[in-house]
Amino acid sequence: MQLKVNGVSRQVASEWQNENLLDVLREHFGLVGSRYSCGIGQCGACVVHVDGAPLSSCLTPVGDVADKDILTIEGLASPNGDLHPLQQAWMDEDVPQCGYCQSGQIMQALALLQTNPTPTDEDIDVAMSANICRCGTYERIRKAIKSAATVMQEVG
Ligand code: FES
Ligand code: FES
Repeated sequence: MQLKVNGVSRQVASEWQNENLLDVLREHFGLVGSRYSCGIGQCGACVVHVDGAPLSSCLTPVGDVADKDILTIEGLASPNGDLHPLQQAWMDEDVPQCGYCQSGQIMQALALLQTNPTPTDEDIDVAMSANICRCGTYERIRKAIKSAATVMQEVG
C-alpha cells in the first residue's frame, strides 16, 4: 500500500496497515509536526489534509487514505523554502506559546481560507472551534488568519 504525502509516494509496510495515519506519519515517516494529544478527535492537534479536506489523523485508519493526497505541516512551505503566508503570519504575530497545538491550528486555518478567503472573527471562531489551545492563543490566531488572508488575496 502507498501513501502520497506532501507530493511524495511512500510505501506503507504491511505491519503498519492497522495503525492510524498519525502514527504512521510520526513514527514511521518522521513527520512529527502533526501532534498526538487527545487521541479521540476532540482537540485538533493532529489535523492534516486528505484530498484537500482537514481530518483528524489520530482517528483515521491508514488503510482509509491509501493513494489519497495527504498534506501535513511539513508540506506547507514551497520547495524553495518560502513559508506559506499562514506560517509567515504565525511568526509575525508571534502566535505560539508552547507550540504544541499550532500545526493543527495552521492546517485548520488553511482549510478555512481555502473555502472562505475573507473570514470574519465569527467565521474564524466557528471554523477553528474544534482546535483547542491550552495556552489560549486564540486572539493571536485570529489576527494571524486575517493577516494571511490579506496576503493570500494579494498574491491571488
Ligand atoms: S490528537 Fe487527534 S484530535 Fe486530538
Ligand atoms: S500554544 Fe500551547 S497549546 Fe496551543
